[in-house]
Amino acid sequence: MIQRPKGTKDILPDEIYLWQYVEKKIEEIMSLYGFKEIRTPVFESTELFLRGVGDTTDVVQKEMYTFDDKGGRSITLRPEGTAGIVRAFIENGMASWPSPLKLFYNMAMYRYENVQKGRLREFHQIGAEVFGTDSYLADFEIVEMANRIINDLNLPNIVLEINSIGCKECRGKYQEALKSFIGSKIDEYCDTCKSRFEKNTMRILDCKEKKCKENNANAPSIIDYLCENCKTHFINLQKLLDNSNIKYKINPRIVRGLDYYTKTVFEFVSEEEGYTIIGGGRYDYLIKELGGQDTSAIGFAIGMERVIELFKKYNLDKLEKSRPELYIAYIDDASCNFANKLKFNLRQLGIYVEGDILQRSLKAQLKYADKINAKYVIVIGENEIKDNYAQIKNMQTGNSDKIKLDENIIKQYIKK
Ligand code: HAM
Repeated sequence: MIQRPKGTKDILPDEIYLWQYVEKKIEEIMSLYGFKEIRTPVFESTELFLRGVGDTTDVVQKEMYTFDDKGGRSITLRPEGTAGIVRAFIENGMASWPSPLKLFYNMAMYRYENVQKGRLREFHQIGAEVFGTDSYLADFEIVEMANRIINDLNLPNIVLEINSIGCKECRGKYQEALKSFIGSKIDEYCDTCKSRFEKNTMRILDCKEKKCKENNANAPSIIDYLCENCKTHFINLQKLLDNSNIKYKINPRIVRGLDYYTKTVFEFVSEEEGYTIIGGGRYDYLIKELGGQDTSAIGFAIGMERVIELFKKYNLDKLEKSRPELYIAYIDDASCNFANKLKFNLRQLGIYVEGDILQRSLKAQLKYADKINAKYVIVIGENEIKDNYAQIKNMQTGNSDKIKLDENIIKQYIKK
């Protein structure tokens, strides 16, 4: 039997209602904050991610699905959404649209990861990006919106961690300090860290190897190296979070796994699951680096598989699976036509009605109605057609009422 590729998932009908509920909730919140949806291609030129995400990141070095297409172009399945959205922003001249521009997306991403709990090779993100503002007010709005999503979805025990990784100015000084800290013991680091030492020293702080993590424990903190501008920006954000009673922890170890970040970075971490649910931050240089005008931006992405796992754990009992409001069964061929017509008319009126399409016996029809959890059942036979009345049975209480076989009357009865 052919099986699904490792690290992918089928989302079956008995789970999809959770996805639809969560997606709707998130998209409703994003709409309240003025975000409009954008969809970009699943695949992009590989160069976009090399330049956008950074060629010393794990994502680019180890995790991309890259191949040559039949025309010999190097193509990559998007490992994340931001680079593609920035490409679309530049290509479609969105810099001339009213600023700030707020976009959201709900898209599948692809990373060749070591598959484990909460870590897949195909996964879904809902992300939000704001273009055209370097103000801390935008940082606050974006973090506050992410916080609202966590709260409205009733996901407990999630901690907001924030950091600032500065701008080009402060980062230069910090990289020097980090270099001299790591340089003396670089032999103790893994090969990947060694190869990143010269080109992107800060990336070493993101290494997951035990030995490297231990070595990094006492590394200098970027926060001590922030320039006045970045420091004020970071403090202003904290003041707004304090004013709104949004709890957070400053974690100077957050560097994020993608190279485009500047100033504010943040993660919403589930401590009990041990993974990040939402990750994001500011990326003030990326648009220019990819060939656009100098435009500041900030955003985040929610890992949907991780949110769904948590949502299931805490809220499953609060949601009802969609179930037919009515099942119309029939006894013989003559009543089959009548039942079909009634089913058709009720569906036209917007009622979720099921009926037999297998030419099964009445007994089998009623068994199926029970299995699919229909709320009401009507059985049509010769007498019912003659009287134009039938019994409508409430499957939960077992009570029946006599009802006229008129779609408007039935609709009214079901909806009462
Ligand atoms: P990221 O931290 O790489 O950021 O991913 C964001 C979220 O996607 C993670 O916090 C996690 O919940 C989920 N995620 C990442 N990798 C996987 C995986 N292999 N399996 C399941 N879930 C995963 C970004 O992608 C940035 N583009 C976010 C951003 C938007 N920054 C600014 N704007």
